[in-house]
Amino acid sequence: MRLKDRVAIITGGGQGIGRATCLTFAKEGANIVIAEYNPTTAETVGKEIKALGVECLVIQTDVSNGDSVRSMVKQALDSFGRIDILVNNAGIFSYTQIEDCTEEEWDRMMAVNLKGPFLCSQAVIDTMKTQKSGRIISLGSLAGQVGGLVASAPYSASKAGVMCLTKSLARALGPHNITVNAIAPGVAATDMTTNHPDLTSQMVLGRVAQPVEVANTILFLASDEGSYVTGFTLNVNGGMFMSS
Ligand SMILES: NC(=O)c1ccc[n+]([C@@H]2O[C@H](COP(=O)([O-])OP(=O)(O)OC[C@H]3O[C@@H](n4cnc5c(N)ncnc54)[C@H](O)[C@@H]3O)[C@@H](O)[C@H]2O)c1
Repeated sequence: MRLKDRVAIITGGGQGIGRATCLTFAKEGANIVIAEYNPTTAETVGKEIKALGVECLVIQTDVSNGDSVRSMVKQALDSFGRIDILVNNAGIFSYTQIEDCTEEEWDRMMAVNLKGPFLCSQAVIDTMKTQKSGRIISLGSLAGQVGGLVASAPYSASKAGVMCLTKSLARALGPHNITVNAIAPGVAATDMTTNHPDLTSQMVLGRVAQPVEVANTILFLASDEGSYVTGFTLNVNGGMFMSS
């Protein structure tokens, strides 16, 4: 039980990597707050989590909206009285060519993928500072490291922003014993990647990731084993790209 009695907020926990993270954390004893835009998928995952014997609060949240995020964090605190872990997982994706990318698409991508992690992190900081401990883990992407193999420019740029935001937050919050890290998946088998072309020939391991394989790396950064890691982006890409 590596997260026994800890409280974790997981954004976008209704499916894919977020769902896998919810279930992985719950199996390790964490109580879960699912902050998800889609109430139907979130309720289904909420039932799966409760069946594992921990508590779960489902809160419909739009991570791109500050009022929605602050209300979600308040409800989490009202229910659990503490927040130990925030996983900034909610995200949206597109393949749009740069010539076709509208201002609206650019703004929405930045609002969900980059402003979302900023708003959620900002909303939990006071609580984590008071607790003198906390873990923030955000989903970056290989696209944000290499410019996107199939992903659009706004998606790739938003994820590069997430990975730099991670370093800025790590610098600011380290003195308060709050670690801040990112995960950079390559391709994981979720709804987001259903229409991806086959990129497995570019993966040293020759296959895409299962969501739980990404969740397990998030668990490492959230658990006591990850206590001295901060400001880091962990590649979970099957050897598709190897940064220094
Ligand atoms: N799947 C991959 O190969 C891959 C690769 C690199 C990075 N990522 C990142 O991992 C994260 C999870 O990806 P996934 O593949 O599980 O995606 P997914 O599309 O399967 O799930 C995303 C979840 O986020 C939720 N969401 C979307 N907008 C939201 C909002 N405004 N507020 C709250 N929730 C919202 C969706 O409802 C959904 O449940 C994303 O940030 C994604 O960019 C995924």
